[in-house]
Amino acid sequence: MEIRLDGGNVSGAVRVGDTVRRAVGPWTPAVQALLAHLAGKDFAGSPQPLGVDEQGREVLTFLPGETVGSTRPWPGWVYAEDTLVQVARWLRGFHDAVADFVPPEGAVWRMGGQWAPGLIIGHNDAAPYNAVWRDGKLAGFFDWDMAGPVRAAWDVAFGAFSWVPLHASHVVAREGFTDFEGRPRRLQLFLAEYGWTGPTSAFLEIVAARIQAHVTGLRDLAAHDPVFARIVTQGGAAALEAALAELAHFT
Ligand SMILES: Nc1ncnc2c1ncn2[C@@H]1O[C@H](COP(=O)(O)OP(=O)(O)O)[C@@H](O)[C@H]1O
Ligand SMILES: [Mg+2]
Repeated sequence: MEIRLDGGNVSGAVRVGDTVRRAVGPWTPAVQALLAHLAGKDFAGSPQPLGVDEQGREVLTFLPGETVGSTRPWPGWVYAEDTLVQVARWLRGFHDAVADFVPPEGAVWRMGGQWAPGLIIGHNDAAPYNAVWRDGKLAGFFDWDMAGPVRAAWDVAFGAFSWVPLHASHVVAREGFTDFEGRPRRLQLFLAEYGWTGPTSAFLEIVAARIQAHVTGLRDLAAHDPVFARIVTQGGAAALEAALAELAHFT
C-alpha cells in the first residue's frame, strides 16, 4: 500500500512500508552515493539509500517521527531553544561525517557545480520542512535533492536562516516565531554550538550571499519550470528579497 506523505512542494514522496519512494533526477545517483557514505559512517541523521524500484523511483529508508508537513504555524518544537542547539550539532556531525566524502567521477548535483578539495557536499536545504522530530529530539533530515558542493559555511548559513530564524519577519511570524528580540542571542548560540570561530559579521555576509544566490536560482528555475514558477507567484522570491533587506540591518 502506498501512503502519500504530507509536505514538500517540489517532488513529493510516498511511503511504502518502511521505505519512501521519490521521483528521480539526474542528481539521484550522486545523492545516493552521498547517503551511502553517511550510512557507512554510522551517521543516523539521514535516510539510507536503497536503490531504485520497479517504477524507477528512488527508494530510501523511512525516518519515523513527526514532520511539519503542511501545518502552519509550525509545531512548538521548531523554534524551541534546544532544537536550535540540536540542529547546530546535527550540522556539525554531518559536516564531520561528510568531510572525507569524495563524490564519484562525473557526479551530477542539482545545486552547485563540480566538487573540489576544500568543498563539502552540503545538504543545502536543512530547514524545518525537511526535519524529522522523534521522542522530543531531532532525528535527522530528509530531502537531499539539493545536496551539492559548497563551502561548509554555506550550509551553516542556510541552517541559521531557517532555524534562528533569519528569514523575513512576516514569514517567520506566520510560521509561529515570536522571539524577535532574541534573534541575535539565538544566532550566537547556534554558531557556538556548531563551532563557528569567525566573526558574526562575516557569517551574516555569507548568509546574505547564500540568500541572494537562492533568489537568483529560484527566478532562473521559474523561467522554465512550473513548480518553481508557482513558488515565485506565491511570493517566495519576494519574501527572500524582504529577508535580505532586513538582514542588512540585523544587529
Ligand atoms: N526518508 C523520509 N523519511 C520520512 N519521511 C519522509 C522521508 N522523505 C520524505 N518524507 C516525507 O515526505 C514529504 C515530502 O518529501 P520531500 O523529500 O521533502 O519532498 P519535496 O522534494 O517535495 O520537498 C516530507 O514532508 C516528509 O513528510
Ligand atoms: Mg522537502
